[in-house]
Amino acid sequence: MGMWDGRFEGGPAEEMQRFSESLEVDLRMFEQDIAGSLAHAAMLQHVGLLTEDEGGELERGLLAVAAELREGTWTPGPELEDIHMAVEHRLGHHVGPVAGKLHTARSRNDQVATDVRLWLKGRLTDLEAQLVRLVGVLLDRVESDGRTLIPGYTHLQRGQPIWLGHHLLAHAFALSRDLDRCREAHVRVDACPLGAGAMAGTPHPIDREHTAAALGFGCVVENAMDAVSARDHMQEVAAVCAITMTRLSRMAGELVLWSSAEFALVRLGDAWSTGSSIMPQKRNPDAAELVRGKAARVVGDLMALLNLSKGLPLAYMRDLQEDKDPLFDAVDTTVASVSVLAGVWGDLSVHADRFDLTGDFLLATELADFLVGEGVPFREAHHVVGRIVRRCEEQGGNFSLLTAEGLADHHPALGEAALQALDPVQAVERRTSRGGTAWAEISRQVSLLRSAIGNADTNG
Ligand code: ARG
Repeated sequence: MGMWDGRFEGGPAEEMQRFSESLEVDLRMFEQDIAGSLAHAAMLQHVGLLTEDEGGELERGLLAVAAELREGTWTPGPELEDIHMAVEHRLGHHVGPVAGKLHTARSRNDQVATDVRLWLKGRLTDLEAQLVRLVGVLLDRVESDGRTLIPGYTHLQRGQPIWLGHHLLAHAFALSRDLDRCREAHVRVDACPLGAGAMAGTPHPIDREHTAAALGFGCVVENAMDAVSARDHMQEVAAVCAITMTRLSRMAGELVLWSSAEFALVRLGDAWSTGSSIMPQKRNPDAAELVRGKAARVVGDLMALLNLSKGLPLAYMRDLQEDKDPLFDAVDTTVASVSVLAGVWGDLSVHADRFDLTGDFLLATELADFLVGEGVPFREAHHVVGRIVRRCEEQGGNFSLLTAEGLADHHPALGEAALQALDPVQAVERRTSRGGTAWAEISRQVSLLRSAIGNADTNG
């Protein structure tokens, strides 16, 4: 007997069945579906809608179905359409007609909403753990290799010298905001729709708080129609994923650049590099490239989820079955990408002293700041240094041509002291302003971030 045979004379076309079923995706949440049924049955018994015997039978049957699905000893066929019908059908096989009582005061609409929220709660915990891990790996890296001088860029043009640690901290702080977003989205996911029924609630004396507590939810979704229609929490999670992936793709782009022969600032570990089928010398940063590429997919997932519910009248519509593919993909891809980049960062080597930062014009701002220290207005200082740069260029060189006398020709405040000031380490260490490049400031930020994310200092 099919689920809705009472209403129809004929069954669905085979093509319709194939088009309609969602078992492959749904099977990823069979544990959640059964947990939801166990909690619902326990609640029905608690309020007296099931006898103790009936409740016990349903529990026994549901655990048997769970075991079969786990062990692969029973696989639902496409005619069962989705995980909710499949479990109920199989429950009947184990316990007989009492299985028909389980669907009292619920519908597949609140079931599927509950399953996805439970699935998300687990995966958001994974994502949070991976983000904490990646930030921790970056902070370890700041401590082990952060005192490497590199050019800081704007427009990918050399700007000012910085410690590598300063650059890595910029990524780490940004990732900690992704972690915050994830934790905040998690709070909105953490509400239980079960017991909403199709959309209108139920005349039976159910206890939704009982179900929510049994499933570990923080609260119930108040309005039954909202409970089955809302997909904004999924969109929010996908947005968190898309933002995180955009961030990772930026970092990945830098790894690709930094591991090139031209930059040669980092060398990725063997475990995270790939070779070429034709060019024997190649050592490709595929891990980083793939993260960058996958970011595009996750942005697409977010777009799919936004468009899916756009313009849909309340309440449930079958369109919504299409939510799980992009949602699961966004979360899976993001968790995997964060984890891979933590692996990459944990296993690369940094070429210390890779850059000669004294020769070119990287200290131009420092020279201007020196003049400011001598009481010269910044705009004037900028102008003076601009002229010095131009003069060096005209002579076919850079700041390495500078002498105390030559400098003095440009401004009375310039001379030997200014020449001494043109040292990249000094320039970096002088920037002691909050958020600046001085190592003391970097150390302060590392401790701040470690306590913010709850990550112990593994380097002692
Ligand atoms: N498989 C459905 C989904 O994922 C479950 C809800 C079906 N509800 C319905 N009224 N057809 O959305």
